[in-house]
Amino acid sequence: MLVIDSPKVLREAIKKFKRQGKAICFTPTMGNLHQGHIELVKQGQKVAPISVVSIFVNPMQFNNPDDLKNYPKTLDADCQALEAAGVDIVFTPNSEVIYPNGLTTQTYVEVPGLCDCLEGELRPGHFRGMSTIVNKLFNLVQPDYACFGEKDFQQLAIIKQMVTDLAMPIEIIPVATVREESGLAMSSRNNKLTETEKLKAPLLAAVMNQLSNDVQKNTTQHSLLIADACQELELGGFNTDAIHIVDVQTLQAVTEQSKQAVILMAAFLGSTRLIDNKVVTLKHNLHQ
Ligand code: PAF
Repeated sequence: MLVIDSPKVLREAIKKFKRQGKAICFTPTMGNLHQGHIELVKQGQKVAPISVVSIFVNPMQFNNPDDLKNYPKTLDADCQALEAAGVDIVFTPNSEVIYPNGLTTQTYVEVPGLCDCLEGELRPGHFRGMSTIVNKLFNLVQPDYACFGEKDFQQLAIIKQMVTDLAMPIEIIPVATVREESGLAMSSRNNKLTETEKLKAPLLAAVMNQLSNDVQKNTTQHSLLIADACQELELGGFNTDAIHIVDVQTLQAVTEQSKQAVILMAAFLGSTRLIDNKVVTLKHNLHQ
C-alpha cells in the first residue's frame, strides 16, 4: 500500500493505474476509521480493482474551531486497517497542500436546495465545505467509482446531485449503514460516549425503527409521531436536536407525489451528537 501526501505523487501513481486500464474506486474519509469505513472500501473493491482512500480532516466543513482542533487523529491505526483491507493508495495531504491560499479565497461548490436545508441549516457552510473538498479530491484521484455511507444521508444526496449537475464521470456507490449488534449506527463519534452513554445509545435506532413503523401505518400526523419519538428519546436520557420526515429525493416536506420519505434523527447523549436515518415507503394519504 502506498501512503502518499503529495498531489503530484498521487497523480503519477493514478496515471500508472489508468495506463494499465485499471478502474479506480475512491473512498474519502477524515480518518479515525471504524468498521463502517472498511465496509465502504470493501464495497468499492467489488466494482474496481484499485482502491484509493483519502484521510483528510477538512477544515472547510467545520463550523466550530474546537471540533476541528479536537478531531481524533489515528493515522497509524487507520493505515494498518486500510492495508489489512487491501487498499492500494492512502492519500494523506495536509491543509496547506489542499488549501495553499487559505480557506476564504478558495473556489467552492455548493448544491442549491440540498446544502442549506436540514443539517445545513444547523451547520451553515458545512455542506459547502464538504462538497468542495469532495470535488477537489475527485479531481486529484479521478476515480471511476466513489463510495459514500448512507449514514450521512444528506451528504450522500448532495454528492449524487453534484456529480449529476457537473457531469462528473463517476458512479456513486451508496453503502448501507453498518451497525453494532445493539442496532447503534457505527460512527467515529461513538468513541466519545462514556460507558453509561454507550448503554443508552442504541435507543436512537430503536426509536427510529418504531417511528418508521408508525409512519408506514400512516394513521397519525407526522408531527405527532415526531413528538412521541422526541419524548421517548428524552425519557431515555437523550436531548433531541432534530427529527425530520422528508421526501427522500428533494429532502423537502413530503407531498402527495412522494413515494418514499427518509426519517432523519439527530440527538445528543451528553455532549455527543448522534445521527441516524431510515428510508420509509409511503402509502399515502398524506398525514404531515
Ligand atoms: O464523511 C466524511 O467523512 C467527510 O464529510 C468527507 C466525505 C470525507 C469529506 O471531508
